[in-house]
Order: sequence, then C-alpha cells, then structure tokens
Amino acid sequence: MPQDKYILGIETSCDETAAAVMKNGELIFDCTTTQLLHSRYGGVVPELASRAHEKLLASGVEQVLNESNINVDDLNAVAVTHGPGLAGALLVGVSFAKGLCFALDIPLIGVNHIEAHLWSGQLTGDNPEPPFLALILSGGHTILVEVEGFGEYEILGSTKDDAVGELFDKVGRMMGFQFPSGAELDRRALLQDSRDEVRFPRAVVKENPLAFSFSGLKTAVLYHLNQNFKSTDGHFEIGETEKNSILRGLMNAVSDMLCNALLKAARGKEYNCIVVGGGVSASKFLRTRFKETGELLSIPVIIPPFRYCTDNGAMIAHLGCKLFEKDMISLMNLQIDPGLRLGQR
Ligand code: KG4
Ligand code: ZN
Repeated sequence: MPQDKYILGIETSCDETAAAVMKNGELIFDCTTTQLLHSRYGGVVPELASRAHEKLLASGVEQVLNESNINVDDLNAVAVTHGPGLAGALLVGVSFAKGLCFALDIPLIGVNHIEAHLWSGQLTGDNPEPPFLALILSGGHTILVEVEGFGEYEILGSTKDDAVGELFDKVGRMMGFQFPSGAELDRRALLQDSRDEVRFPRAVVKENPLAFSFSGLKTAVLYHLNQNFKSTDGHFEIGETEKNSILRGLMNAVSDMLCNALLKAARGKEYNCIVVGGGVSASKFLRTRFKETGELLSIPVIIPPFRYCTDNGAMIAHLGCKLFEKDMISLMNLQIDPGLRLGQR
C-alpha cells in the first residue's frame, strides 16, 4: 500500500493568517484567521500584519494538525506563499515553513499566491480543462489570463491602475465603511433596483481592449459625492438609499467592464470554461453576471465557494500538492518575492 502523503499549506501574504492540511490531494482541514485589527486604519498596516502573523501562525498550524488527526512528523512537505504580498508578512510564513522543513527534513514548496487563486476552483472538485480563460480579482490584482496548461499562462490583460478590490475598498472608505468593504458594497448594490442606479462611465484601455482601468471610476464616484452631498470632517452626509444607488451603479460599471473583456477574449476562441478567483469573486452581484456571460458564450463558469475566494490556506496546500506531484520543490534558500508575477515561481 502506498503511504499517505500529507502536505501543510501556509498563507501569510496579507492580512489573513491561514493554514491547511491535505491528505493525498484531498483537503482535510483548513483554518483562516482574518486580522480585524486593520479595519480601524482603513487599510492593512504592514508592520501590524507581520506581528499578528507571528502571534497567530503557530497556533493556526497546531490547530489544523490536531483537527486533521496527525502529528507534525507525519508531514511530507510544507507549501508556503512566497509572493506576491507584503514583504514582512511573507517573511513570517516563509521563515516558519523553512524552520519546519529543516527540523523535519522534508521538502519546502514555494507557492505563487496568484497561481493558487487561479487553481482554487479545483478545491471543490471542479476540474477546468485547458485551454480556459481565468480572471483573477483580488485586492492587489486584476488579471485576465489564457491558461494553456499547468504553468502555461498568457496574460491577456491586467489593470493599468487600481485593482477591483482596491477600487471597492477605496470607495468604501469614501462612504465611511469598514475596511475591507467589498462585501458591504456588494450587499448594498444588491438591495437597490437598477432603475435607480447612478450611471458611471465604463473605461476602455485603447492600447489593449482586454486590459482594465478602474481609477477613473473611483474619481467619478468622488465627483458624484462632492457634487451632490455635503461633507463634514471628511464624511459625506448621504442617505442609505443614495449610497445603495451609487454602489449599484458602481457594481454595474465594474461588471460590464469585466464581462466585456471576457466576451472579447473568448471571441473566435475555443475555451472549455471560464475560471474566476480571488477575494472579489465572492461578490454575489459579480458571480451572477459572470454566470450570465458564460451562458452567452455557452461555456461553464467555475467560481470557488465563498470561503475559498478570499485568501486561505487550502488553495496554498492544493497548489503545493500539484507542485509536489511534479517534483517541483524549492531550495531551502527560497526567497520571498513581494512583486512575484503570475508565471514566475
Ligand atoms: O484575494 P483577497 O482575499 O486578498 C488579496 O489577495 O488581495 O482579496 C481581497 C479583496 C478586498 O479588496 C475585499 O474588499 C474584496 O476582496 N472582497 C469582496 C468580497 N469579499 C472580499 N469584494 C466584493 N464582494 C465580496 N463579497
Ligand atoms: Zn489573494
């Protein structure tokens, strides 16, 4: 009987401290702690994030090992996010993973966070068959990719300025919501009827119709607020219905821009499916629009369940397993790379 293979996944690239255990490629247990301490600062404070990872990581790993009913020396490898992300935060995870691998004499696997989002749809059994289109939407990235195979990625377009999650968080801040505000914007947009929405422009990037630009949309929301509402101490005096009308208009503009790019990218191509991942893909508003776009193209749209859209350890363990199977392990001098791009390891 072949021996069971256990892989631990560790994620500390931003403000989620997360760990997960996989047995023979199947997720056994995962645990994510979102660092709520950043909400009062209106964004992630890098130094505080690193310190919180230091406090939370060991107990998170202990918990996933306990819940998985295994001992630390049952592990066959440790997979860890080494980029992209915040330098100090990445360093906490990578140093911890190196320590474990060194002590247990097992392989270390460096994982690209964006690539982990890309394959996270497989966590619940969906198996996208290349070639397919992938749209990665997170707080730091908005990327449209053609996937020709594992590790074969052609970036068709990305954002020229703000990422979608960044846009949501900045607009949320203008409106006085807690960071991160994507989920709140989404909830409010769904409360409003589209007949009452505030209409915002859709940006097109001339050089590349598959690229994105969201900073104009952010400015348009700010203009609208400045022109229509009084501001005291940096806060706009604005009613709930008006807020929701603006957010409905914002969500509609964003979904039009994203879905138009999907339609253009798929024109004349034979993609098997569209895969969407990253924290913003937890948006119910956008999920519905992506599914409708898939119906127009007659191809399935794969989006992970909510908990695997935002940062989590399961997606790191999952990609770690794929790399381990292919013997793509890292050297013990693995470096963090805050600017790591999709396609790089
Ligand atoms: O992938 P992620 O967890 O972290 C990064 O890698 O950046 O994405 C975080 C982003 C934040 O900007 C957050 O506001 C957004 O995802 N987000 C959402 C939702 N949940 C999180 N945006 C829209 N709807 C949601 N339900
Ligand atoms: Zn992420």
